[in-house]
Amino acid sequence: MGDLYRQLAATIGRTIRETPLAWHGKFDLRLDDNGGVITECEASVLTALVAAVQPVVIAEVGSGNGRSLVALLEGARASDQLTGRVTELWSCDTATQPSVDCRKMFRELGPTIVTGDVDAMLEQMPTPPNLAFIDGNHTTVGVTQDFQALHAAMDSGGLIVFHDSRSVPEVQQFCRTIGALLLPTCQGLALWRKP
Ligand SMILES: C[S@@+](CC[C@H](N)C(=O)[O-])C[C@H]1O[C@@H](n2cnc3c(N)ncnc32)[C@H](O)[C@@H]1O
Repeated sequence: MGDLYRQLAATIGRTIRETPLAWHGKFDLRLDDNGGVITECEASVLTALVAAVQPVVIAEVGSGNGRSLVALLEGARASDQLTGRVTELWSCDTATQPSVDCRKMFRELGPTIVTGDVDAMLEQMPTPPNLAFIDGNHTTVGVTQDFQALHAAMDSGGLIVFHDSRSVPEVQQFCRTIGALLLPTCQGLALWRKP
């Protein structure tokens, strides 16, 4: 995890300074007190994290309003620039409206949006993710199921990022149980790497 922190520290400032942040045109992520949705600061951390890790395939659980998807997409673009290859981006949501809306909103930008849960998404993915973002069902059962499905699908070294590891006690407890690294962002981001 120390290496990851060093990579993050080295990349975060550069990414935020040098990446044209498309989300500023799409969403107002500036409010930090916005009741559970990803903040601008967290979006920046997520973008920088993706740029630092340079994953080949990203999977998100909980497309919602597409805010985190914008951040993941920005990170994927930055990573593409740095590596010269295209990062695949997938997201799923069990509710129909968020996935339909995100499919429309991100149409030309490339992510595949699945209506369904993590299992439905993993079934459709030709290559397992090596970076995943969990922001779906925030109950203990929900977060455990998402984690277990991704854990089983990912290779060693795969990184799982949890949202709401500060704001939702069940998520926080789960992240503590698995020994995830808790970042003190507004709603909380936690990192866990598959050994
Ligand atoms: C907090 S919102 C996600 C916010 C989103 N990440 C964003 O930044 O806009 C949670 C979303 O997860 C979806 N959801 C709930 N349970 C789920 C599950 N088991 N699998 C996938 N999505 C789920 C909900 O329909 C909701 O849209």
